[in-house]
Amino acid sequence: MTNEQLRSLLASMSLSEKIEQLVQLNGSFFGDIDVYTGPAAQIRMEPDQPLRTGSVLGEHGAEHLMALQDRMMAKQPHHIPALFMVDVIHGYRTAFPVPIAIGATFNPALAERLIEASAKEAAAAGVHVAFSPMVDLVRDSRWGRVMESTGEDPWLNARMAESEVRGFQGSNYADKGRLAACVKHFAAYGAVQSGRDYNVTEISEHTLFEDYLPSYRAAVEAGVSMVMTAFNTIDRKPCTTNKKLLRDVLRGDMGFKGVVISDYAAVMETVLHSTSLDTRDAAKKALLAGCDIDMMSECYLYHLKTLVEEGELPESIIDEAVLRVLELKNKLGLFENPYKDASVEDEKALLFCKEHQALSRLAAEESTVLLKNDGALPLDRRQKIVVAGALAEDRAITGSWALFVKPEETVTLRAAIETLYPDADVTFFGSDEVTDELLAAAKVADAVVLALGENQTQTGESLSKADISLPKAHMALFEAVRAQNPNVVTVLFGGRPLAVPELAGKTNALVEAWLPGSCGCYAVADILFGAVEPSGRMSMSMPYCSGQLPFSYSAYNTGRPKPRKEGFFPFVSNYLDVPNVPLYPFGYGLSYGEVTYSPVTLSSTSLTKGGQLTASVVVENKGSLPVKEAVQLYIRDLKGSVVRPLRELKGLEKITLQPGERREVRFTITEEMLRFYDADMNFVSEPGDFTLWVGHDSLTENGADFRLV
Ligand code: GLC
Repeated sequence: MTNEQLRSLLASMSLSEKIEQLVQLNGSFFGDIDVYTGPAAQIRMEPDQPLRTGSVLGEHGAEHLMALQDRMMAKQPHHIPALFMVDVIHGYRTAFPVPIAIGATFNPALAERLIEASAKEAAAAGVHVAFSPMVDLVRDSRWGRVMESTGEDPWLNARMAESEVRGFQGSNYADKGRLAACVKHFAAYGAVQSGRDYNVTEISEHTLFEDYLPSYRAAVEAGVSMVMTAFNTIDRKPCTTNKKLLRDVLRGDMGFKGVVISDYAAVMETVLHSTSLDTRDAAKKALLAGCDIDMMSECYLYHLKTLVEEGELPESIIDEAVLRVLELKNKLGLFENPYKDASVEDEKALLFCKEHQALSRLAAEESTVLLKNDGALPLDRRQKIVVAGALAEDRAITGSWALFVKPEETVTLRAAIETLYPDADVTFFGSDEVTDELLAAAKVADAVVLALGENQTQTGESLSKADISLPKAHMALFEAVRAQNPNVVTVLFGGRPLAVPELAGKTNALVEAWLPGSCGCYAVADILFGAVEPSGRMSMSMPYCSGQLPFSYSAYNTGRPKPRKEGFFPFVSNYLDVPNVPLYPFGYGLSYGEVTYSPVTLSSTSLTKGGQLTASVVVENKGSLPVKEAVQLYIRDLKGSVVRPLRELKGLEKITLQPGERREVRFTITEEMLRFYDADMNFVSEPGDFTLWVGHDSLTENGADFRLV
């Protein structure tokens, strides 16, 4: 349809019809499921009213959605097609590693490929919009949803966000196999106080703009179609009714022109936040703030009509929201083809296809992080090996948003080892129980592999933990086994970096496998046996304990910086009981080989506005296997009109080096890269001295100084 046709359609719609376009319900209103999460009230509706609403949450399957579309268009007075929106976060039927692991690949191009495959599967299943990418910056792994984020760094999250928007939408999301993307959760949901889900946030405007907004901004600049408001407050105002956030920042400053949807019942929840008097007041505030669609609450449905009829809301503000929804449907081509890509045949060909299974394995090869290796790895398949721990045989390792996987299709660590290394002498104990049989086997083994940590029921939405230590039963299992055999390799599963200082100090080797997805354990097995070089890098720092949280490598000097030495120092910024640094920092990860960096060479030591300089290093693979190296560029602004971080990631290049290969890696430094929000919240650079580093992780000291003049 042309814009004129859309506008005339809008003009012909009744007020009730327009309002129904701004309501999104889940399958429980269409006779399919009966589930409410959170405090959503039971919504009472006229018999056919759900069928007249503008979009549906969570329904999927080509045949089902074609039939549902037929039912809805038949009841909608102008036969306007419905939008089908689903949480496609890191895969659909094929689960890729969870996003915190995708961040650990330090490979935005790979992230784009994973999302592209996810979109193809979901589009074939009749889905139109993905509630993804989730781009919330995370610095507190007490929050269960760190699993859904690509990590703690604004720059890396922004690169991942734009890549994933491209992965979903391509150059035109009306194209086959593409979805419209909905970036979430706007904004700063990852900053919930104390890591407790749905809590308030207490961050400064500088922190919001400098750290939390860049990933959303990147998604908007990449053309994301929708934005979902977050459950939390910013500056004491719920995001969903926060006019300054939605109209001034999102639409004004960032220039977003698409549809804004609330999170699940978030409009109604402003009553519980205590900023809306009742659901009528909530409806008014949310629409005035710029929230177009009310997901799973009664507010818009019950009150918008009377608010307009009683003169409290201009109908024009309804029209503005409805036109954005109609434009989205039009850009998806739904007026011409209401089913879009729904196809039973394509589902059969694409869902969990060999290509996507292989991609799931490749992704885990790049997301798995080797944190420690005192020589136990790689395993020798001729060795006598014991593998123990329930997680070694647990299929719940695809993530809590892997809603459409078939568990029987998920490869466990045990299945991967048995498939790939059938000749290896491996005895499995698929439980956390310390039995005499296990201890006896451990005693005579050459190596013991323990699968510890969390499965997907322990991390995700609402699954916050005040204490992120290793589960006590896992530490007990580790100690008992290690008493029989000191050569213990620990594989950590989970959606958050756990605090495992005691384990890390004692285990001979430590591997962070995250929640690796449908076929990720093949990669874990190959890394354990040395067929694949580990190349993952921590996308989020691993703290010593919950007490260090929230934590980021991109910290500040303070007025009383701690000397760079071990131990406690009075009257400076440090703890009595733990160091200031994390157990393992952002960007950290080992390989089996050795990768060396030459000193940094600068093309110049002074940079002018509009000019540029290059920083180059020569990276060499001195190992015997090909290695994938995430070459990282960090920059520090030594002085500013506000405090400036000790270092910030500003560049990344993921390269593959064959054994013995040397490669020059060059980064171009520009004045734009040095901009930040100054004392008056102007986004500017300030002349002065800078240091940059190029190296293996955020601890690198391989640096050089330059000046912005
Ligand atoms: C959930 C989540 C959000 C998701 C939505 C729809 O509560 O916060 O990420 O997209 O509801 O399932």
